[in-house]
Amino acid sequence: MQKTLIQSEYQLTLNPQYESHSLYPREAETVLNADGFGRAKQSISQWPGYAPTPLLELSNLARELDVASLYYKDESSRFDLGSFKPLGGAYAVASLLQKQIGERQGGRKPDISELLAGKHRHTAIDITVTAATDGNHGRSVAWGAQLFGCRCIIFIHETVTNAREHAIADYGAEVIRTAGTFDDAVRKAGETAKAQGWHVIPDTSDGTAIEAPMNVMQGYTLMAAEAIEQLPGNRAPTHLFLQAGVGGMAAAACAQFWQTFSEHTPAIVLVEPQTAGCWFDSLSAGHPTAVAGSLQSIMAGLACGEVSYLAWKILRTGATAMMTISDTVAEKSMRLLADQRRVDPPVVAGESGVAGLAGLLEAASDQQCRIMLGLDGQSRVLVFGTEGATDPESYHKIVGRSAHEVASGRHKL
Ligand SMILES: Cc1ncc(COP(=O)(O)O)c(C=O)c1O
Repeated sequence: MQKTLIQSEYQLTLNPQYESHSLYPREAETVLNADGFGRAKQSISQWPGYAPTPLLELSNLARELDVASLYYKDESSRFDLGSFKPLGGAYAVASLLQKQIGERQGGRKPDISELLAGKHRHTAIDITVTAATDGNHGRSVAWGAQLFGCRCIIFIHETVTNAREHAIADYGAEVIRTAGTFDDAVRKAGETAKAQGWHVIPDTSDGTAIEAPMNVMQGYTLMAAEAIEQLPGNRAPTHLFLQAGVGGMAAAACAQFWQTFSEHTPAIVLVEPQTAGCWFDSLSAGHPTAVAGSLQSIMAGLACGEVSYLAWKILRTGATAMMTISDTVAEKSMRLLADQRRVDPPVVAGESGVAGLAGLLEAASDQQCRIMLGLDGQSRVLVFGTEGATDPESYHKIVGRSAHEVASGRHKL
């Protein structure tokens, strides 16, 4: 069977390390496991405003794509932050504070309810958390810091839009803009934190930082667990199309499905921007491989040049295939979701949030891709719409209407 397909707007290749029908491996279990999931769920479900996000069935689109069903987990309303990210960043902040406060007060770790009630504010306020971000992760760390009462400094790189910068500052964080790419901002945040005694909350791991990025990923697993609960009959889909930046979200979803459905886990297709295919390159090579260049893409959350060491432990054998897509494909998919004639009710999805679906739209329309991925009229596909219009100005420019207009169905047919 053909292993790689190269088209002008996308590329698809099979992961040579993929182990189909295997049990959840020990290597993955050291990163994400049932105990960790239990702790994350117990914490996050107590936060104010927690509610499972909706799972939408896009029947018209499923018919158009000639698959049996298509489910879209819509994260645009998560804690009113516009993306799935608070599940990870804010959960890692909460876990860090519980540990630090316990150590500083020489006793037990406080319960999450005590943190939320502000019982340890006098200790929390002396703790500073920091992160590098393309927008959404920093926003979630800043929101968590505000919710749990500690200080927060966020690093952003050159091309992060002003709208995204302001969205972070709105939660009381100090925002520092640095030269270079996302990966340069990650390095800068790490160096400054070391010098200042701050605590870094990265959403990626280079193999040295483990605890915080592991908690970030463990928080994300709740999104996948909700989807499993919401799927009709809790039946496993046959395919997940998952957008990947550093791979934390995709690894978390993969791990949760793998632990739940064991050898019946769905095929997992990773989707990345053409300019930032670090999973495409790394899995093809069989080892983590950095992507050079500006990494510039409208899919800002996915514009990452290096895979996360922790996510690698799961996706190395868990990912079935990798796709890279052009910005044009992502834009087209955002417009399609906003179009009431094809998707009813219309869905507001941001540039990074739509990438998994965008990958599916291309793959399902190409006979070679369908064969390579085993997509057919019996396939049940799940995608995660990981953000709404987190950059409203950019959303308006691409879709031609505001997120509000799309959501309220004001568009006349
Ligand atoms: C909206 C959105 N979706 C998906 C991702 C990808 O997550 P990860 O970097 O964990 O692969 C991001 C990352 O920032 C994001 O902002």
